Amino acid sequence: MDLELHQRTAVVLGASRGLGKAIAASLAAEGANVLLTARSGDALEGAAAELDALGSGRIGYHAADLAEPGTPAAIHAAAEKQLGPVDILVNNGGGPPPGPIADTERATWDEQFRSMVAPLFELAGLVLPGMRERGWGRILTVVSSGVVQPIPSLGISNALRSSIVGWSKSLANEVGGDGVTVNCLAPGRIATDRTASLDAKAAERQGISVADVERNSRALIPVGRYGDPREFGDTAAFLLSPRGSYITGSVVRVDGGLVKSV
Ligand SMILES: NC(=O)c1ccc[n+]([C@@H]2O[C@H](COP(=O)([O-])OP(=O)(O)OC[C@H]3O[C@@H](n4cnc5c(N)ncnc54)[C@H](OP(=O)(O)O)[C@@H]3O)[C@@H](O)[C@H]2O)c1
Repeated sequence: MDLELHQRTAVVLGASRGLGKAIAASLAAEGANVLLTARSGDALEGAAAELDALGSGRIGYHAADLAEPGTPAAIHAAAEKQLGPVDILVNNGGGPPPGPIADTERATWDEQFRSMVAPLFELAGLVLPGMRERGWGRILTVVSSGVVQPIPSLGISNALRSSIVGWSKSLANEVGGDGVTVNCLAPGRIATDRTASLDAKAAERQGISVADVERNSRALIPVGRYGDPREFGDTAAFLLSPRGSYITGSVVRVDGGLVKSV
């Protein structure tokens, strides 16, 4: 199937590694132009060189911290300057620290909202007018299986990402008639640096080995393994393509069956 992404222009946040990089790679392999963003310029430079070899589109990058107030505008300007008008926005970034939610302080909520949530809404607001004018656009936000089945010890993620789901669904209703789809993609346990770091912290908390934590996790996943980032990236590429045009306002799970509800 041709995903018809050739020469579409995408901005992918959190694209230096992990899920963001995998989505960017799937888009690049389909011939899209892709702007990669994250904080580390060195990591972005390396990722851009790798992705450049995958397809015929142009690959750019822009290093910036999503927690900084001027970042959404700077990313938008960099995308337009390097690659042209933005057709596709992939909202993604770092995850919050694990821990109990009951004693989370106001300052932590503010800080996490500022880096995980507000910049995604702001950047979407910047790219939307052009998408609506051109009658085509895609906004996809990486959330977590925790928005469907809250994950113990990841309360900040469960709470703030659920707010993103509400925003995404509301926006999908508003812009569906303009050819813009708005969806969320919910990873279960995909093998990335973040998953490895959470497993290491869980091992410490529970006083068991990382191998035991992984085995316990795998036992909860019907397919019996962690996901490969590429499986996640390819699902995203479909949703972001013209072929995914009738899917909007959805939360699509890529979790090997981890979530227990229908
Ligand atoms: N992997 C999974 O199975 C899974 C499951 C559920 C939810 N998630 C969520 O999905 C997202 C991506 O997961 P992942 O596993 O790919 O995480 P990851 O390996 O930690 O990658 C996060 C990416 O975001 C960038 N980033 C982090 N903080 C940033 C900031 N303040 N400003 C700009 N960029 C920032 C990182 O680059 P820099 O450090 O250079 O900025 C990196 O490119 C995370 O939010 C994670 O919590 C993942």
